[in-house]
Amino acid sequence: MAKTRTLYSCSACGAQSPQWAGQCSDCGGWNTLSEVAVLSKTVSSRFSGYSGDAPVPVQRLSAVKTDQQLRTSVGMQELDRVLGGGLVTGSVVLIGGDPGIGKSTLLLQVLSALSGGLDSLYVTGEESLQQISLRAHRLGINGDDIRLFSETSVERIIATADKERPQVMVLDSIQTLYTEALQSAPGSVAQVRESAAQLVRFAKQSGIAMFLVGHVTKEGQLAGPRVLEHMVDTVLYFEGDPGDRYRILRAIKNRFGAVNELGVFAMTEHGLKEVSNPSAIFLSRHEQAVPGSVVMVTWEGTRPMLVEVQALVDQNQLGNPRRVTLGLEQNRLSMLLAVLHRHGGLTLGDQDVFVNVVGGVRVTETAADLAVLLAVTSSYRNRPLPADLIVFGEVGLSGELRPVPNGQQRISEAAKHGFHKAIIPVANKPKTATKGLEVTAVNRLSQVLEKVSEGF
Ligand code: TYD
Ligand code: MG
Repeated sequence: MAKTRTLYSCSACGAQSPQWAGQCSDCGGWNTLSEVAVLSKTVSSRFSGYSGDAPVPVQRLSAVKTDQQLRTSVGMQELDRVLGGGLVTGSVVLIGGDPGIGKSTLLLQVLSALSGGLDSLYVTGEESLQQISLRAHRLGINGDDIRLFSETSVERIIATADKERPQVMVLDSIQTLYTEALQSAPGSVAQVRESAAQLVRFAKQSGIAMFLVGHVTKEGQLAGPRVLEHMVDTVLYFEGDPGDRYRILRAIKNRFGAVNELGVFAMTEHGLKEVSNPSAIFLSRHEQAVPGSVVMVTWEGTRPMLVEVQALVDQNQLGNPRRVTLGLEQNRLSMLLAVLHRHGGLTLGDQDVFVNVVGGVRVTETAADLAVLLAVTSSYRNRPLPADLIVFGEVGLSGELRPVPNGQQRISEAAKHGFHKAIIPVANKPKTATKGLEVTAVNRLSQVLEKVSEGF
């Protein structure tokens, strides 16, 4: 085994010490020291692909040869889209998500779809080979072309991969792997970071495309830290409610494509099925209009999607009014409620406010502002808004309505799904009328509230 030293590094100030201690001697932080590996020179230079004696020459940017980035379709359009148009040779993709959301299922299906074109190797540290075989049965995959390997030592995985030379590799999951260079337990921050670093170096050197599976902690972060996010080329999150049918794959970072691109899948008894036209699947169809529910058009990556925002405003009983959001940013809700108070005259200081985006979707764009405020107002007044109303728009601190990108496409999408009324910012008003959709363009929040209380 190569020579390595271990050091203890403070996660707060970065100070290093040869021994572990409960308190960092530099910054005084408690429990901040964690083990890190320091590879000896020969090892690190072997992994990074150059020897210390022959320095790499400096080149002009224009003279750099671009070996065309080879992209291969993974055989699932929704995943191709999220990857930015296919899998790039030698790239490392991290797939994060709650346990049971379908990461292993997705990757097994990907390998099966790829097996016609690319050689693959599935490394499992989590499940037995029998369990994977059972899953493959359930998915109707025959598996002649998929090679399986049950191993958790990174050194042995790399040695085997070097011999087998697959083109695509799945490592399920990064938290179960360990490197012999470190003494700490698998799953610890130091292990996850060092194991991933070795695998990334190997991927770059060998041109093998890798999928790393990462578990997510209760706080919603990839366990074993965000440090993984900057090491890999692409970070995808699998979102959705495990009890629900639909799953969303979202690109958080992508060196080879756009971020915030979405892929939508449905979990069925035969595995994940792609949903190629997902724009309206997240609407819960009420038989009649209900208070506190508003439909908005959100823009995800390169396409519009209709989602329902629900609010519940209720008399607070405990003295400390709660502001709870699911699928939206909490601070933004507090800000919007302040705007509603100052510019809409609605006092909610003694009310609990809960806001939810239906279907486990997360909306990160400010275009949701108007929908949130209308849902809150509708719930507070206990008056439903028309069921065929669609809204979008950003609300500013002075109560003005600001435009959002892609207004025209959002309106067309709403019209396509049978909505007849729209409230949008003036600057988003389309130049030509949309058939079947009556567009109300407004400047200020107060005008919207007037319009709504007039009942259209
Ligand atoms: P899994 O891929 O094991 O999740 P992860 O690797 O992210 O932990 O998915 C497991 C869940 O998916 C489990 O709750 C059962 C469900 N499932 C189906 O509904 N249909 C299927 O065909 C398969 C294989 C799994
Ligand atoms: Mg799994």
